Amino acid sequence: MARKPPSHRSRPARRKMTGSKTEGVKRSRVTAKPEQDDATRMLHRKVKTASGRKISSKLWIERQINDPYVRKAKEKGYRSRAAFKLEELDDKFGLVKPGSLVVDLGCAPGGWVQIAMKRGADRVVGIDLLPVDPVAGADLIEFDFMDERAPDKIKALLGAEPDLVMSDLAANTTGHRQTDHLKTVALVEAAAEFAMQTLRPGGHFVTKVFQGGAEKVLLKRLKNNFQKVQHAKPESSRKGSPEIYLVALNLQRRDP
Ligand SMILES: C[S@@+](CC[C@H](N)C(=O)[O-])C[C@H]1O[C@@H](n2cnc3c(N)ncnc32)[C@H](O)[C@@H]1O
Repeated sequence: MARKPPSHRSRPARRKMTGSKTEGVKRSRVTAKPEQDDATRMLHRKVKTASGRKISSKLWIERQINDPYVRKAKEKGYRSRAAFKLEELDDKFGLVKPGSLVVDLGCAPGGWVQIAMKRGADRVVGIDLLPVDPVAGADLIEFDFMDERAPDKIKALLGAEPDLVMSDLAANTTGHRQTDHLKTVALVEAAAEFAMQTLRPGGHFVTKVFQGGAEKVLLKRLKNNFQKVQHAKPESSRKGSPEIYLVALNLQRRDP
């Protein structure tokens, strides 16, 4: 299939992000406030603990119904509140260009796929352990990204080198802290290796990481291979969450 060259497009005014260095890497936060109106604040609702319902699930439900991003996602037809995180990262870093070929690792339920398509991607290939409802213009596969056959499947579906690899992968937790931590680190490292092996020169990689994770080795590899590597915490990422995003721009070379 003839491939449209990625081109620049006019973007909405960039949001202001503050930056500071963390281990030689810039850390940014989008400073724009979410649209949380007075009514939302006043309507903060509490959930009664039904007998048998765990406190943790009560808190989760309470957080969901009071979260302005969950409400906004519903209004906009986005499948996840995570969609806003990609919107913010894209506003800041200009990741998706019209005509881009994009890979989305850990794509369910499809919020990031929707944003990539909305912002002009030509095609998105997404992979997840879970089934994902179709999104026009996207190839979504239900498969384990850690399976050694996964990279070839993705590459075959895309048919060309991607302009952008994005990973919002999060390991299914077992409850055992160390095991969960190792699973998450392994996922992020595999995503980074995949990005470095497949991206076109000049391509970008964005990935969720968790603060306190074994990131040093990964950071070094990314900094060796990309022109610029920066941390960013979107405003829509929950304050108490240890998640943060690593944005690696402009692939320069592919280390073996
Ligand atoms: C936070 S969700 C992604 C949300 C998505 N960005 C969105 O906006 O809708 C993380 C996803 O990673 C997926 N995941 C975890 N381990 C995986 C693996 N080994 N292979 C593929 N997907 C995986 C989970 O199933 C989950 O759906």
